[in-house]
Amino acid sequence: MHTKSFYLETFGCQMNVVDSERIVDLLAGIGYQQIEEAEQADLVLLNTCAVRDKAVRKAYGHLGNFKPLKERNPALIVGMGGCIAQQEGKQLLQQFPYLDLVFGTHNVHRLPEMVQQVADSRVRCEETEFLDRETRLQLFPSRTGQEAFTRFVTIMQGCDNFCSYCVVPYVRGREISRPSGEILAEIRELAEQGVREITLIGQNVNSYGTKEEGELSFPELLEKVNNIDGVDRIRFTTSHPKDLSDELIHCFGRLEKLCKHLHLPVQCGSDNILKAMNRGYTRERYLEIVCRLQQVCPDIRLSTDIIVGFPGETEDDFAETMSLLEMVRYTEIYSFIYSPRRGTTAADMKDEFTAKVKQVHFNRMLELQQEISRQLWEADVGTVQEVLVEGESKLGEGQLFGRSTWNRIVNFSGPAELAGRLVSVNITKAFRNSLLGELVEH
Ligand code: 5AD
Ligand code: SF4
Repeated sequence: MHTKSFYLETFGCQMNVVDSERIVDLLAGIGYQQIEEAEQADLVLLNTCAVRDKAVRKAYGHLGNFKPLKERNPALIVGMGGCIAQQEGKQLLQQFPYLDLVFGTHNVHRLPEMVQQVADSRVRCEETEFLDRETRLQLFPSRTGQEAFTRFVTIMQGCDNFCSYCVVPYVRGREISRPSGEILAEIRELAEQGVREITLIGQNVNSYGTKEEGELSFPELLEKVNNIDGVDRIRFTTSHPKDLSDELIHCFGRLEKLCKHLHLPVQCGSDNILKAMNRGYTRERYLEIVCRLQQVCPDIRLSTDIIVGFPGETEDDFAETMSLLEMVRYTEIYSFIYSPRRGTTAADMKDEFTAKVKQVHFNRMLELQQEISRQLWEADVGTVQEVLVEGESKLGEGQLFGRSTWNRIVNFSGPAELAGRLVSVNITKAFRNSLLGELVEH
């Protein structure tokens, strides 16, 4: 078989990252090898994100870069997948004459036949049908054969929460949980291959299994993963505060492999806006959860997502978000200026603030958070942290990197054979995106 090559760019969340890994496997099955240069490829693909307008514009910008390639090489196949493909569907083929194939979030598995169809007959195609439950259950991505010490494992897909700003339920479809037996079998296999850290992923992992009769709950699933030999660390994302049960909170005190870090998106600190967002919790309830987490696991660290400038947000609402940041003291926040998404209920809500005011708020928030983060990370200097060594770093020979339980990158020198092991590192310096340290023992 003549080997062909493809170039793939991925935008967005872990769901897309996992889908892209699946794309690499599927295309290898029809003789396409991944390369780093779009100019040399027989097939170029974008896996896109639709969560905010910025991501959408970026994707279209990158698609535009493929146009001159196609003009130079008419045999080139150009494809788009992911959330924009799901939302826009067939009309993308009309809008972009150089685009050959469009595949939606439920149709990644169809890619090989679509590519072959275009290669054989130059008939452009689009597949963006949502699949039924049974078919989807057969198609959960399961990956083997890639070398790494850390791996994402998909435990659920889709979302039924319909937060009023969010496009995800429309482009990823209804929530569905993968059977626990399959998840655990995959993790056992990964552990046997040498994977040491597992991140369980889904749009809302806290509600895992609740819609499937007889299925394990999320805390029960975590406990079973905790019992798998060879797995040293467990993480999960994303959590929804409204589904964070007491049982799950207690896992942070009980399960020794569960990392002491939780990403718990709050979105906003004001009850009025939380209600308009359809988030299903109040500021008080959220703070109560944080307090209980800290009781159960005193050194737990939290990160969050914040939306600035949601329709109707007032100065008072914004002040409440700022005060929440000061109370919780997250190690990191991911903040976004609200971006209206077609089809969502918030899309028609009236805006209070101009773009300029939103930007001022956004900057003030970043400033506050940078100071909080800096203080937290600087307090790490002089502590000894357990690090899972991921491999040699880009800093040079003999330089290793790994992550702490709090998911911070730690750089230090040591022998390459430590890769995949848990070691103790004395932290000597804190930078904005990483820590520097010295190996204590191994
Ligand atoms: N505008 C701005 N931010 C958004 N997010 C989701 N939808 C929007 C939107 N329309 C943010 C939320 C979510 C994160 C992944 O993206 O904070 O948690
Ligand atoms: Fe979007 Fe809300 Fe679902 Fe998260 S929980 S994916 S923000 S609808």
